[in-house]
Amino acid sequence: MLWQWSQSVLSSLLLTCAGYGVIKPRVFLVNMFHSEAVEWYNIPEFDLLAQNITVPGLSPLFPDVHCTQDGSICQLITGQGEINAASTMSSLLNSPRFDLRSTYFLLAGIAGVSPRHATVGSVTFARFAVQGGLQHEFDAREKPAHFPSGYFAQGTTAPGQYPVWIDGTEVFEVNDALRQVAVGLARTAKLTDTDDCKRLRATYTSPIFAAATAPPSIVMCDTLTSDTYWSGALLAEAFENTTSVFTNGQGVYCSTQQEDNAILNALLRGAISRLVDFSRIIVMRSASDFDRPPEGGSAADNLFAPVVGFPPALLNLRIAGVKVVQGIIDGWAATFERGIEPSNYIGDILGSLGGEPDFGPGSVFSGKGARISA
Ligand SMILES: *[C@@H]1O[C@H](CO)[C@@H](O)[C@H](O)[C@H]1NC(C)=O
Ligand SMILES: *[C@@H]1O[C@H](CO)[C@@H](O)[C@H](O)[C@H]1NC(C)=O
Repeated sequence: MLWQWSQSVLSSLLLTCAGYGVIKPRVFLVNMFHSEAVEWYNIPEFDLLAQNITVPGLSPLFPDVHCTQDGSICQLITGQGEINAASTMSSLLNSPRFDLRSTYFLLAGIAGVSPRHATVGSVTFARFAVQGGLQHEFDAREKPAHFPSGYFAQGTTAPGQYPVWIDGTEVFEVNDALRQVAVGLARTAKLTDTDDCKRLRATYTSPIFAAATAPPSIVMCDTLTSDTYWSGALLAEAFENTTSVFTNGQGVYCSTQQEDNAILNALLRGAISRLVDFSRIIVMRSASDFDRPPEGGSAADNLFAPVVGFPPALLNLRIAGVKVVQGIIDGWAATFERGIEPSNYIGDILGSLGGEPDFGPGSVFSGKGARISA
């Protein structure tokens, strides 16, 4: 602890001598690829391109953190996929140029969406993020006949069972009280829509897809991370089940993306080292496409069709996100500087930040979580 403290004091001193200040952002926006980021540049509310700070360890494609002149709002691009996301965030957290201990992290990306819970153009806010790719898989043509899909949890013998090998990144739970506040702020935004999206929605005629046919809105539902960009009703149902099983029936799968568990794991490790506050994370994903076709449609057509939801998803992510950012900045002294106390468990499946996870086998640190892979 003392070593860590002296190290951070030393690096601050060195930077000050070199003429650099340490930036202490109030909000840090995390985008995953270029189109998500440019949407936030050249807007009237704030100027993210006022300062560019090159941080060693970021993606060679996106080497800079961008910040407003006063440093209160910063942003980076991780690059797509779990490996890029984890590497970039770890490098950011260990950069001596930033003091992130009181920073709110707004994860802001587009995603696939379940037509059972939301629609293209909607903006979702998650409490649980589940790592769907960290499983066993048989090709569907070679799976046991009674398996409903080829996916099943590590160390188990059939779908529906809780993972036996636990690696620590399977599930993250974030501050639900903060999520409610963020949703309240986002709901003050006026979301956009397009005729192409309306036409796409109208094809989801089954009553179970009623949510898909409504106009875009702000939705509270959970997210699934997988490096594989999949499409289809059976995989969608398999991952709905994964989300439910891994979170002990609490998580409602609605968005599918390729980074969030990786980012959250880097933030969790940072929180253990007291570099960040894990109660200050918002997981926001807007819907660019459906994860499955309408009933009777093909999984391939769903994936290969033009992504008509892409432009409104990018736009609505920013329109809703700006309200969240402004809400935090405007309410800093009154509310956000002190923080919003979580009333739910926050952290990982291992209980690394303390407390007893409300999912999984229990904290390994309290001695309850026995089933840990060697
Ligand atoms: C920061 O980088 C962007 C390009 O990514 C550029 O447009 C902008 O002018 C740069 N800002 C400064 C202050 O150099
Ligand atoms: C999902 O879970 C339900 C309930 O256990 C089961 O009936 C269904 O076959 C599962 N589907 C897939 C694709 O795993």
